Amino acid sequence: MKFENFWYVVAQSEALPPNKVIARQLLGEWLAIFRDAKGQAIALQDRCIHRNSRLSCGSVRAGHLHCPYHGWVYGDQGRVTAVPAEAQQFQPRAQLRAKHYLTCEQEGFIYVCLAEPIAPPFAMPHYGEPNWQRVRVTHRFNNNVTNCAENFIDIPHTVSVHPGIFRQTKHQKIAMTVSRREGKVIADYQNETNNLGWWSWFLNPHQEPIFHSDRFFMPNVTSVEYRFGQNRHLFITSQSIPENPTSTLVYTEAAFNYGIWTKLVIPFVRFTAKRIIGQDVKILKIQQEVITKYGTKFAHTPADTIHVFVESIREAIAKGEDPRLLPDKTVDVTFWV
Ligand code: FES
Ligand SMILES: [Fe+2]
Repeated sequence: MKFENFWYVVAQSEALPPNKVIARQLLGEWLAIFRDAKGQAIALQDRCIHRNSRLSCGSVRAGHLHCPYHGWVYGDQGRVTAVPAEAQQFQPRAQLRAKHYLTCEQEGFIYVCLAEPIAPPFAMPHYGEPNWQRVRVTHRFNNNVTNCAENFIDIPHTVSVHPGIFRQTKHQKIAMTVSRREGKVIADYQNETNNLGWWSWFLNPHQEPIFHSDRFFMPNVTSVEYRFGQNRHLFITSQSIPENPTSTLVYTEAAFNYGIWTKLVIPFVRFTAKRIIGQDVKILKIQQEVITKYGTKFAHTPADTIHVFVESIREAIAKGEDPRLLPDKTVDVTFWV
């Protein structure tokens, strides 16, 4: 198993209308992505096979991508369908073909897989269900997927990086059970309270019991779930897309069901999500600067158990192993925030 065997988001569906081409980077590979005449997303290596211009700098007409240099025309599966300098005498040939990759579209995201996929894309929670709304934002982090994913399911940093907005220091003891199994890490919190900063007033106005679980799904998805009593339910799901070893594009979705308030809170959720994620972008940039200078040698305490499990899963894939074969582990941890 390699990182190339998974599906990665390359755009929201709405970001790729017909007759548009977008450039993306995925695991170091450059991609030019556009829609063919049927509307199907096509992902080509962002390199014209003629003289190596960048296809993503070209234009799309009638579902065909035209290279910006000499105008070679590419169709589905990267086939060259026309060469302007050859006009009518051009003969399509099997070997005249740009490298192309698998695509699929699901739940408003376009995905690309660079090799043979081992599973379908991650299913976004409650997608398309009545009474659920979702807000999606995208941020580029100057760091790798492992450190991004760890950050998104890390409670201890919230009091220092997001003071007030997300949590405040209250020297409160939190108990969690962390499990690693089948390429997943699941952290369930037993005594979560309303120490949720700005969010508290609308998240849980009646101080109902809180269910909180943080999850990591190999190789790059985190999902945070909160349930407040019967009627308020929230997921924050992040797909961290590896552009290269120090750049990760993160698609974050807040999906929520707040009963009659669901639609009203959309602008509030968007504003708060951008504010919080902006703070994480800054702290992860600083972390990457130090990693670039001193390397990745980390110290751990029991409060870092989630991270140790996430790292073990990602390290297994990096070695070409299947992390689902790692032994199942469950650990009870207490920590303070
Ligand atoms: S480099 Fe693309 S057509 Fe010549
Ligand atoms: Fe954060």
